[in-house]
Amino acid sequence: MSYDQGAGLFVTWPTSYEALVGRAELKPGEWVLVTASAGGVGIAAVQLAKALGAKVIAAASTQEKLDVSKQYGGADFVVNYSNKDWQKEVLKITGGKGVNVIYDPVGMIKDCLKCIAWKGRAIVVGFAGGRIEQLPLNLVLLKNVSIVGIHWGAYAIKEPQHIPSVWKALIDLLSSGRVKPIVYSDVFPLEKLSDGLLAIEKRKTWGKAIVRIRQEDTKEKAKL
Ligand SMILES: NC(=O)c1ccc[n+]([C@@H]2O[C@H](COP(=O)([O-])OP(=O)(O)OC[C@H]3O[C@@H](n4cnc5c(N)ncnc54)[C@H](OP(=O)(O)O)[C@@H]3O)[C@@H](O)[C@H]2O)c1
Repeated sequence: MSYDQGAGLFVTWPTSYEALVGRAELKPGEWVLVTASAGGVGIAAVQLAKALGAKVIAAASTQEKLDVSKQYGGADFVVNYSNKDWQKEVLKITGGKGVNVIYDPVGMIKDCLKCIAWKGRAIVVGFAGGRIEQLPLNLVLLKNVSIVGIHWGAYAIKEPQHIPSVWKALIDLLSSGRVKPIVYSDVFPLEKLSDGLLAIEKRKTWGKAIVRIRQEDTKEKAKL
């Protein structure tokens, strides 16, 4: 892979892998709903869930991001969560049953629980929406739901012995070509770092937004 692709791997990919495999115990054939599906952790989760044999519904706020989720992520279905009652689309896609796993980096678990299946698992990944979500626990009780957290950074302190096995699995998947890191179309030189941050703030980016410390032919370097 190129250095641009490699630069975006470090926290993003193990977070999504451990969330789906270690925390939600995803099984082949299950339905997965990924919110912010074109974002950094989201597009990795879409690809990983597909590679693990799941059926993936990608959810995002714009048509461009839904296209990215389908084209680069390989999502089976896409749903725009800017639309009112988007959960009804998810229920329709899943034949009325709902999704088995929710992967949520936005802070919209409460909304997503409207289309979770019986005994579904909802993974709390982050709060990109800007607010730490509060959840009425009756929603958890009603469908035998499990809410699970993922804090990848904490593995370095709490469970360092687990980290190599996650990277081994990821490197196998990356080497086989079954998953591929996605880099946002604009790569920012160091002098334009603030433009990159602004693009993230305005929700324009998809995949990983990369800052290049210096210009060089990364493809040539990657071959070495
Ligand atoms: N738990 C962990 O170990 C772990 C590890 C890595 C990252 N994270 C967390 O995961 C979250 C996403 O990280 P990321 O790298 O994927 O970020 P990202 O690439 O910037 O993607 C975030 C996406 O969230 C969506 N979003 C919804 N409401 C938003 C708002 N009000 N402002 C900005 N974005 C909004 C946007 O997609 P739409 O426009 O489609 O809604 C945006 O593209 C962050 O909160 C991060 O801290 C957690």
